[in-house]
Formats: sequence, C-alpha cells, structure tokens
Amino acid sequence: MTDWQKSGWRRKPRVQMPDYTDADALASVEARLSQYPPLVFAGEARRLKDQLGEAARGEAFLLQGGDCAESFAQFSADAIRDTFKVMLQMAMVLTYGAKVPVIKVGRMAGQFAKPRSAPTEVQDGLELPSYRGDIINELDFTETARVPDPEKMLQAYTQAAATLNLLRAFSTGGYADVHKVHQWTLGFTDGEKAEKYREMATRISDTLDFMKAAGVDSDHAETLRSVDFYTSHEALLLEYEEALTRKDSTSGNWLAGSGHMIWIGDRTRQPDGAHVEFARGVLNPVGLKCGPSMETDDLKRLLGTLNPGNESGRLTLIARFGAGKVGEHLPRLIRTVEQEGAYVTWVCDPMHGNTIKSSSGYKTRPFDAVLREVREFFAVHKAEGTIPGGVHFEMTGQDVTECTGGVRAVSDEDLSDRYHTACDPRLNASQSLELAFLVAEELSALREERHAQAV
Ligand code: PEP
Ligand code: CO
Repeated sequence: MTDWQKSGWRRKPRVQMPDYTDADALASVEARLSQYPPLVFAGEARRLKDQLGEAARGEAFLLQGGDCAESFAQFSADAIRDTFKVMLQMAMVLTYGAKVPVIKVGRMAGQFAKPRSAPTEVQDGLELPSYRGDIINELDFTETARVPDPEKMLQAYTQAAATLNLLRAFSTGGYADVHKVHQWTLGFTDGEKAEKYREMATRISDTLDFMKAAGVDSDHAETLRSVDFYTSHEALLLEYEEALTRKDSTSGNWLAGSGHMIWIGDRTRQPDGAHVEFARGVLNPVGLKCGPSMETDDLKRLLGTLNPGNESGRLTLIARFGAGKVGEHLPRLIRTVEQEGAYVTWVCDPMHGNTIKSSSGYKTRPFDAVLREVREFFAVHKAEGTIPGGVHFEMTGQDVTECTGGVRAVSDEDLSDRYHTACDPRLNASQSLELAFLVAEELSALREERHAQAV
C-alpha cells in the first residue's frame, strides 16, 4: 500500500483515545517501544488470514475468545493456562461435534485498551475520567489513578510478550496434545455439560487408540500433538499500535506487530476516522465490529477501504446486535456484502449487545440472551444462504460469577461472589462449554441441511 503511513492516523479525527498530558514522556515511551521486537511475525499473520479465508467459505470455524480487558493485577500463569484450556475444550467440542477445523484466536496478549460509553464516571457525587484499560490508566476510583500514563504501554508490552511466550509453549510443548483430551477436564466441577464433555473425550481417546493400533497415528503425530493458537485485540491505542508496526522484509508490507489479528470496535469504526486509517494499511487480518448503528452505506465504504483487494480472510465482520435484534440488522448487512461481491468472514459476538445492569447493581449478561443471539445468527445465515464463520465471546477459565444463568445457574444475588472482571462480564468455564455445545449443534444442523440440499 503506497498511500499509507503508519503515522497517517494522526491526521484523522480520533475518538476513545486518551489525552496524554506529558508529551515528552509519551514520545520517550513511543521511541522505546519502536525499538522493541514485534510480538508476532508476518508469516503467522498471513497464515491466520488464509485460515480465516477458509472460515469465510465454510471450511473452518473461528473461535475467538478471552478477557474483555486483560489486567495487570490478575496476570498469572494459571489464569492464562485456564483460559487456554477452556478454548481447547470448546474447540474440541466443535471439531468433534461439527466436524470442522477450528481456528483458535485468544483475546489475549494485547487486549488492554477499552472504549467507554462515557468519558467520565460519577461515584457518590465525585466525577472522574473513566477507566480506559490498564494500558492507559487505573481502575481505582481516585484522581491520580485515572490520569493516563504512557509508561503503562511498556508494562502492557512486557505482559503481552510473557503471555504470548506461555501460549506458544502450551500450544507446541505438549499441553495441547489431543491425547491429553481427558486431562483438560481436570478441575471441572460436575454438571451435565462436563459429563457430556467427558463422554466425548472418551470417544476421542478410543479413536486415537484405534488409529494408533491401525498404524495411522504416526503419520499425523505433529498435527495431533500441537495446535495453532493466535492472539488478537482491539487496536484502540494507536500510539502503541504504531510503535509496534514493522515493515515485513519479504513482502515490503506493514505488519501490526502487536498481535496476529486486530479489530476495530463498534465505537471507533468511523470510515474517515483514525482507527480505520491505521487498520487499512497493515497486512494482518482485521475484524470490524458491527452493531445496530452500522449503516449500510458506511459498511460499503468500509469494505472498500479495509479490503480494497477483496482478499478472502482479510476482513472479519463481527456482528453484535443483541438477542432479538439480529433479524432486524444482519440481513441488511449480509445483503450489502453480497451486492458488493465482497469476501468477508461472518462472526457472531453474542456478548456486547446483551449487557444489562442486574437488580444487584452489577453489569451482567443473561446467558439465555447470549445463546439466543447465537441461534438468531445461525437462523439468519440459513435463511440468506450465507456462511456463519465463527463466534467471538468474552470468557475466562476462572470460575467467576459475572454472567447470570447457565446449567449451574448464577443468579443476580450470586454475582457478588466472584465478580472479578475489570470491564465487561465474562462467561465462566462451564458457561463457555455450554455455548460450545450449542454452536456445535447449530453448525452441524446447518451443514447437514446444506449437504442434503446439495445431493
Ligand atoms: C469489546 O469487544 O470488548 C468491545 C468493546 O466491543 P464493541 O466494540 O463491539 O462494543
Ligand atoms: Co467487552
């Protein structure tokens, strides 16, 4: 891309970004970060893009999940391992249940900056700037905690590097070996879905034993013993993104070195804005959140700007309308994409349109609404004859009580027990697994129906 510079976003209107007060401190952090190694490599981003292209065609399925906001205080190897483990379990449910390869992408190793619904927050009559994620300011409700501090970008980089290091070790160092499918269930508490998972795990290990006995295993040993696991985050804090952007020496193209995939949030997708300007020039796969306010004309412009070459896998449209609203918005956007002849990967985020305030005062999401939005997403694709390519959700491997409902029903009153998120409420391990079973059912029903139509 010749008409693009990594700093070009600075000339465009920006929203949801902090006003740093100390320009020298900011410049010094940017200078240091631009000397640091990129966290990911161009070949990896390209490989993910190819796989997302497969998801666009129905030959693979994207599973994208993790924290709403990663936190400095909750950073630990156990938390990373548990989230990774739940993603593996969900992927296994989908691969086994829907017979489709699953692309695993964490909202991890860079998911630190948050757009907010209001620039300030009031508590007991005191008004302070909103918390914008640990890479920008602090959650504590004090004046000093809420001042944006550029130094936090360095801590975020370090945490992202350490997280990615651990994820790479888990992915290839034996932990993700499918022969360990039973061990991933350790730590599971009882429940109908856990039982269902154990049954499936038994069938998988039986199959592996059979393959080994038949001499098939050894040829595919590497495929079965490791997984590809990618990272992603919202590219919101553009000073950080620019500082980690590097030229790929083999292609001469620019890589956002902060993560394999980046996305543009529902609040920062103005076609002439800074965030779209940054994302259009990097070679990574790019996600675009589409909420109810996405106009069809804007979508048309964004398709052209973000994917001028109409490359399959480059652009993932992440629909997040809210249960009950999918039928009103998704068909018009799907038709726009079809009219433009654009290749996109359609993904459902059933989280961000279903946030409510509970009677106990906590921000929560009713699990029923999450499941309903997923069903509506599949139903619309079925009616339109288009392809549901994946799901995007906020979850954690920790046993939190942040979303209400699920088989081990979390009630409004339970929310205070283990409510640990720094931002939006996440699914816990048991709710995540339940979601995976639902998606597997929807996906295999759709595939069977299309298959029946084709023969
Ligand atoms: C998010 O994914 O955490 C988020 C803020 O989403 P959206 O931009 O869709 O509101
Ligand atoms: Co969120």
